[in-house]
Amino acid sequence: MTEITRITCFDTNAMLGVARENILLSWEISAQRRDVTQHQYQLQLAISADFSSICYDSGWIGSAQSVNVALPAFIPSSCQRYWYRVRIIDDQQEQTDWSPSGWFETALLTSREWKANWVTPESEDEPAESVSYLHRMFDIEKPLVSARVYATALGIYQLTVNKHALEKDLFSPGWTSYDDHLQFQVWDLTPHLKQGKNALNVALAEGWFKGELSWLKKRELYGDKKAFLGQVHLRFADGEERIILTDSQWRCGTGPVVKSGFYSGEVFDARRPDPAQHLCDEMENWTPAKELKMQYRLVPQISEPVRITESLKPVSVLRDPEGLRILDLGQNMVGRLRVQTCLDDGQILTLRHGEVLDQSGKLYTDNLRNALQTVQITGNGKNIDYAPVFSFQGFRYVSVEGLDALTDEQLISSITGEVLHTEMTRSGDFNCDNPLINQLYQNILWGQRGNFVDVPTDCPQRDERLGWTGDAHIFIRTGATNYNVRRFFRKWLMSVSADQKANGTVPMVVPDILREYISKIWGDETYTSSGWGDAAVICPWTLWQMYGDRQLLAEQYPGMKAWVQYIHQTGDDPWLWNSGFQFGDWLALDAEPDSYFGATPVFLVATAFYAWSASLLSRAAEALGFAEDAALYAEWAENVSERFRHVFMQNGDMMADTQTAHILPLAFGLLPEKQRQGVADRLHHLVRENYYHLTTGFLGTPWLCTALSAHGHHETAVKLACQRTFPSWLFSVDQGATTIWEHWDGIKPDGSFWSANMNSYNHYAYGAIGEWLFRYIAGLDYSEKSVAWDDIVFRPDLSGAGFRQASAHYDSVRGRVAIDWRLNNGSAEIKVKVPANAKAIIILPEGENVILEKNNHNSWKDIRDNHVRYIRLGSGNYHFMIEDELFSSNNSAELISEF
Ligand code: BGC
Repeated sequence: MTEITRITCFDTNAMLGVARENILLSWEISAQRRDVTQHQYQLQLAISADFSSICYDSGWIGSAQSVNVALPAFIPSSCQRYWYRVRIIDDQQEQTDWSPSGWFETALLTSREWKANWVTPESEDEPAESVSYLHRMFDIEKPLVSARVYATALGIYQLTVNKHALEKDLFSPGWTSYDDHLQFQVWDLTPHLKQGKNALNVALAEGWFKGELSWLKKRELYGDKKAFLGQVHLRFADGEERIILTDSQWRCGTGPVVKSGFYSGEVFDARRPDPAQHLCDEMENWTPAKELKMQYRLVPQISEPVRITESLKPVSVLRDPEGLRILDLGQNMVGRLRVQTCLDDGQILTLRHGEVLDQSGKLYTDNLRNALQTVQITGNGKNIDYAPVFSFQGFRYVSVEGLDALTDEQLISSITGEVLHTEMTRSGDFNCDNPLINQLYQNILWGQRGNFVDVPTDCPQRDERLGWTGDAHIFIRTGATNYNVRRFFRKWLMSVSADQKANGTVPMVVPDILREYISKIWGDETYTSSGWGDAAVICPWTLWQMYGDRQLLAEQYPGMKAWVQYIHQTGDDPWLWNSGFQFGDWLALDAEPDSYFGATPVFLVATAFYAWSASLLSRAAEALGFAEDAALYAEWAENVSERFRHVFMQNGDMMADTQTAHILPLAFGLLPEKQRQGVADRLHHLVRENYYHLTTGFLGTPWLCTALSAHGHHETAVKLACQRTFPSWLFSVDQGATTIWEHWDGIKPDGSFWSANMNSYNHYAYGAIGEWLFRYIAGLDYSEKSVAWDDIVFRPDLSGAGFRQASAHYDSVRGRVAIDWRLNNGSAEIKVKVPANAKAIIILPEGENVILEKNNHNSWKDIRDNHVRYIRLGSGNYHFMIEDELFSSNNSAELISEF
């Protein structure tokens, strides 16, 4: 029986505050039989949960599309809840029942509906980093049906109603390019309101809007006053609708959070009353808030909110050489500490956060640069239960001053680490028989969690935490496999578009807070770099392939095009990028001493990215049906590739003999077939000559193993990935890393540190190896032309080169894709899962016997070519056994120990 097991709108089946353009419906089909595809669908929307009042019916539509279906003919009203459902007819003319329903509620959809005034609680002499509080009482005198609040802030805010913090969202309204657009949130107040007096309280901190950003110690980058905007919509049983707006009837005062900053930390004084917890009338005597006249383009929140997603207890209490107690959380994490203990009246507790201990056992904070990462709590003689509200820290270790009366056990029990990040849904997992690689994969996941905090950041601890565009695109495929990041990146890409300049340049960080500084130093023309600005093309393209969101691709297309056209007109040669500032293969190990710029010529790197972006742009144009553009940019890509070969190669060899110089043309398809193998062989030799060690930096590393595996040197890639001596991924794992480091030798073999000025222990860029683990070890991949996993490739690594077992799965928008394989003595066993409305190909070596499980279906096609078998599969579960003596030998441990 075919059925629809799930239907979602914008990746969730219950969404408050959706924007019109995000009404995109997707559903998962499931069936017992194999080879199921959709032939027709019918969608319905209703304004009642039982579908008695249908407001949209698509009728039967002959289409296989089951992913991100837009409803152009549906015109939603503001603040209205809609239920939706779908049914389909499959390839065997079987009609399903209606799916379970989902709902969304629209936000305020037009600016006209915003009636509230901005209010600020700030006085003229407001101290830096101060936290302000706003308050409003209101009466409800008759039965209420529903209540919503629509709210946003300049700064970051937390809203409380009648002592209930609304949801657990942190750092609302999030960080966008505020000058272009500002997100607002929608919450359901109905369960928290009562007849009689009700209180709304807002705590407001500087956040990204006004607080310190970057190593330049710049403040007030978007404005000099924190402010809040909100309106409460009440619907009463008698049909009356009432709106409570922010205005000068709101009062402002102080509360227990005295000051807060992302880098500095937070100061909390429990002696100061918390207005959110006291419904006292004295707040009526607070000063009236000042109304401000301001205009912002308000958009409903796009990505999932930042929330606490896990709690960790300290694993031990250490002592530094001076006897200071240091808590070890056992994991380099990003978040905050919750403290639950009794402090005397006026007693001060100070928590300092750091990622590592120095060689003497002291908390190492030099790499935090100007970020103090310090939390100070003053007691009031009672039990406190507090965690920073407006700040977060990157840390594994915390020094504790001021809790001397507690034993180590009591200290551990009164402190909890709370992990925070954008609450993305986990979508992928990887596992293999090498525990060190499994730990590496865990470190990749932690690196992502720590740096997907509302925007994709470079690091979560020092005075940076910025949306570096290079880092974001390097990691996007890995990140999008681990978690569903469609909404997260859609939000960030809106800021990328907003901050892209009229001439097409894409800033190095988005939201772009370095604009003024960088253009002053380097001038406008050089205000970008290859490998960073290319995020404007690579990110939307990757999201298109992962999620099939046409709307997103179409929105991004003008910016993608502007970027490639910008490159085209730089310098004196339209087919080369040979001018301006370039980061090149940033932090590569083949750099000159004391330099961060790798040895691969920067214009080689720039031209390679130019060709790659032009080629992805052409594919995007094709996907969107822009045939002329598709042809034009394909030609550009070819012209650039040709110039690349002409300028950077001689007699078929790369002139620059670095690893990255060989990786990029292979990874980006810049070489004709006859040259490819030679370049791949040279790359293999370079790695081998270096005793299977890499020398690559930010731009070579992500594609290093892929370039080898895809060109006949998979064993070399495996040796690199499993390499344990410096420099390698597993070197940091052996050093006890629990996240990915910024430098291959963040901690050097002798235990000393890389220089303090740029040494993050939580930088996800090199975690991009995760993509290769999925694609070339577990063997879970999609084809070049695949959209939203409709054309899956299974490529289990049965080479025996390093692994004897691996498994991975990915929860695509169509349903789960999975593979699980193992080598037994003399046989290989592989299980795969293909969701309905998708097809796959599995690539297997040509063993003696391939046996399918007994209930096998003869739908698959077996093609043999050059000792490789390609078997085509429709949807369903499959189980293969291949018997061959090939699988009896090689043991991973033996193989790796050679090096
Ligand atoms: C960041 C990087 C970033 C780089 C650009 C660093 O400070 O941490 O990850 O891409 O600057 O040069």
